[in-house]
Amino acid sequence: GGKSMFITFEGGDGAGKTTQIELLKAALEKEGRSVVVTREPGGNAVAEKIRELLLDRASVMEDMTEADLYAAVTKPLGKVILPALARGQVVLCDRFIDSSVAYQGYGRQIGAERVEALNREAVDGCMPERTYLLTLSEQDAAQRVKNRGEVDRIESAGEAFARRVQEGFLRIAAEHPERVVVIDAGRPAEEIARDIAEDVAKLKT
Ligand code: TMP
Repeated sequence: GGKSMFITFEGGDGAGKTTQIELLKAALEKEGRSVVVTREPGGNAVAEKIRELLLDRASVMEDMTEADLYAAVTKPLGKVILPALARGQVVLCDRFIDSSVAYQGYGRQIGAERVEALNREAVDGCMPERTYLLTLSEQDAAQRVKNRGEVDRIESAGEAFARRVQEGFLRIAAEHPERVVVIDAGRPAEEIARDIAEDVAKLKT
């Protein structure tokens, strides 16, 4: 039992979203909750192909094409999230609309409002009730991306781009304090997981 929850994880590359999603999933399942993990871009076979195209360093495209493609891969996600919530499940999503606003709206400088409108339409206005924004210092973020090996098209877009993305995320957090919780990701994973679990407990009531 328990009420359905839609929670997203956001932040720059290498901030540890995947680890935190796994830890929260395990904690919730221990309490008997049914948890669905998904990610944007992804969700179905075509979206996975578009994701490959978007991340391939050999792909050359207009910024607006990139924004349109990210919005396109958001669409099938709604079809996964809404039914899961209707079934009373917990949905943990690795990136959602905030990533599009931060990367394409602020990073590529297409404009936050334009990108948000594009994506809200794609998911029928479905928005998370809680978003954890994992933040790292510029140096830590760059180091973690490097440690992971191969750098994708977005990760290789340069320092100024990465800085605009990070500032964009912080602006989103400032504009939506009721939804977005900023988490210092430069700490041990267990400590971060404890903070997140404590906050999730508040959502359940
Ligand atoms: P990741 O989620 O596996 O780290 O990789 C996805 C990459 O795509 C990441 O660099 C962020 C980027 N991205 C956007 O630029 N816009 C979006 O809307 C989303 C969801 C991701």
